[in-house]
Amino acid sequence: MFVRFLKVTHKATPASLVAKGTIKQLLVGLIGGLLVGALIIFVLNRSDDRLNSSTEIIEHFTEPILGQIPDVSDARSATGLPLIQVEDERFAYAEAFRSLRSSLIFMPNQADLKTLLITSALPTDGKTLTATNIALTLSESYRRRVLLIDADLRRPALHQIFRVPNAVGLNEGLKAKGDGRLSVLKISDTLTLLPAGRPEPDPMSGLTSARMANIIEEAATRFDWVLVDTPPIGLLADANLLSVMTDGALLVIRANQTPHASVLKAVQALGRERILGVVLNGTESLGREAEYSQYYAPVVPPATR
Ligand SMILES: Nc1ncnc2c1ncn2[C@@H]1O[C@H](COP(=O)(O)OP(=O)(O)OP(=O)(O)O)[C@@H](O)[C@H]1O
Ligand SMILES: [Mg+2]
Repeated sequence: MFVRFLKVTHKATPASLVAKGTIKQLLVGLIGGLLVGALIIFVLNRSDDRLNSSTEIIEHFTEPILGQIPDVSDARSATGLPLIQVEDERFAYAEAFRSLRSSLIFMPNQADLKTLLITSALPTDGKTLTATNIALTLSESYRRRVLLIDADLRRPALHQIFRVPNAVGLNEGLKAKGDGRLSVLKISDTLTLLPAGRPEPDPMSGLTSARMANIIEEAATRFDWVLVDTPPIGLLADANLLSVMTDGALLVIRANQTPHASVLKAVQALGRERILGVVLNGTESLGREAEYSQYYAPVVPPATR
């Protein structure tokens, strides 16, 4: 029979003996792995200084969060900058700016608020986007008379957004002798733009001059709101000299991008008491479906101020 030719060459070890050694090794491996994982997360968290959420801002800063703007990178825009429209179908996005506008209007102890600096610590945080969309909300939806000033003299952008010439603007106004008239451009019945003018490699002396203060003061007598879009505050030596010229500053922070240390420097540079609050820009993306939700029909809000 076939079985007769079988010969035992290796004695099998009982299953329980094998298991004992293997389980021990597995446990050591598992605990070691968990410890290494936890260590990596801890180190990464410590080295990732970026502010990611409103909770982190509340933890680190005393300034109120006046607005949270969703990321709408998916939105198609001919200008490349996601501007809101009067009847914007991206309900949550347009609503974020309406709610920011309400926060500004109903700020405690700020009844006379009308001149605003829109600034941030670093490039590409969203200053220009925020300034432009607040200007559009106030002027188009609420019919307020708004002057939007491009004070980013080094890298002007507002003329490109509104597709107007930039040959003459704030820079020329700052250099003009005496009370030279400013060259402003009417974008709509209610929105006026003071473009930056020819780029200026060293903008600080002009921006912190008495002439700049006069321009803002004078504008405040002619418009309901004066919004000043600035260069990144991290690049300005005397940011506090500029911030005292307005009723207050809005500090834009880009979620998952602006480091905590840079925001702290910007707060110190501007002067804590000059900051009205923070705008957290680029919070979690809403996704195309929510951005273009038809369920929430856009509301044309009443002009309340
Ligand atoms: N919430 C957002 N969703 C999608 N894209 C955004 C958002 N905010 C800003 N961006 C995009 O990020 C870029 C930088 O924005 P913006 O120009 O407003 O920043 P900035 O702070 O003015 O930059 P700079 O310091 O260079 O002037 C632009 O391309 C803009 O379209
Ligand atoms: Mg800008």
